[in-house]
Amino acid sequence: MNDDTTTTSVATDDQLIETDPGMGGLSEREESTPVTESTVIESRHLNVWYNDTQAIRDVSMEIPENQVTAMIGPSGCGKSTFLRCINRMNDLIDAARVEGELLFNGKDVYDEDVDPVALRRRIGMVFQQPNPFPKSIYDNVAYGLRVQDRTDNLDERVERALKRAALWDEVSDQLDESGLELSGGQQQRLCIARAIAADPEVILMDEPASALDPVATSKIEDLIDDLSEEYTVVIVTHNMQQAARISDKTAVFLTGGELVEFGNTNEIFENPESDRVEDYITGKFG
Ligand SMILES: Nc1ncnc2c1ncn2[C@@H]1O[C@H](COP(=O)(O)OP(=O)(O)OP(=O)(O)O)[C@@H](O)[C@H]1O
Ligand SMILES: [Mg+2]
Repeated sequence: MNDDTTTTSVATDDQLIETDPGMGGLSEREESTPVTESTVIESRHLNVWYNDTQAIRDVSMEIPENQVTAMIGPSGCGKSTFLRCINRMNDLIDAARVEGELLFNGKDVYDEDVDPVALRRRIGMVFQQPNPFPKSIYDNVAYGLRVQDRTDNLDERVERALKRAALWDEVSDQLDESGLELSGGQQQRLCIARAIAADPEVILMDEPASALDPVATSKIEDLIDDLSEEYTVVIVTHNMQQAARISDKTAVFLTGGELVEFGNTNEIFENPESDRVEDYITGKFG
């Protein structure tokens, strides 16, 4: 219970090395604080089909470390599909077929020696609908650590994750109560705490605030900004203002699963190269 938090944040990668033997050849981050922008996730000519329907079309992009990358575009353009490729959640969909490369720290996550379960520990995910387990607040956050048999200093790890998710002050005296009894916004922060507790490098969020009211949304946005100091965040959002507010990079997908533009968020919103992106951003369609 006496570890100080600075030690712990530095220790994150070491813990992952020790506890992720099943990760295949995926290399760890070399430095916790990179001096220059480095790529954590890169897709190369990625194509995804659901049976005969193509959902992602030849998408190549590089997602930088410790930044927030937003993915925007009209409904059905493949944002969730792309996000699910990153931690192989599409494996769970029988009809889905992926071609091309999806690199995490330079290693293709679709290589045969990559264990998708270990991959998902390093690339956590938060969904549109908060989905706490029907367990106590404490057990929700501790869940991933228990699965990994990392129960040393459990109280402290749970507390730290809840603090990191900006929820601790609201729940510290009710850790034994059910996660399902929290408000929607609190439940979503609980899910973020659950993802953080497992020490991921990347957090994927699929419209994490779209089911929340403006106050809860604003809390999640502040939290995402904070999290990007320590994690790489990739977020799908339908809310253009939200993308503009919280992201460093923006990827614009348009119908058919094509990545039309990808770049610095301010440039995409202020001076997009493509007329189609401009039309989308200014609300002419989508
Ligand atoms: N499980 C699935 N089985 C079959 N087709 C799917 C499946 N999931 C998505 N699709 C199809 O793939 C395409 C891309 O869907 P996806 O959910 O990735 O879009 P999206 O951009 O996230 O849309 P939204 O903004 O509505 O969430 C759509 O045509 C969709 O119908
Ligand atoms: Mg979606």
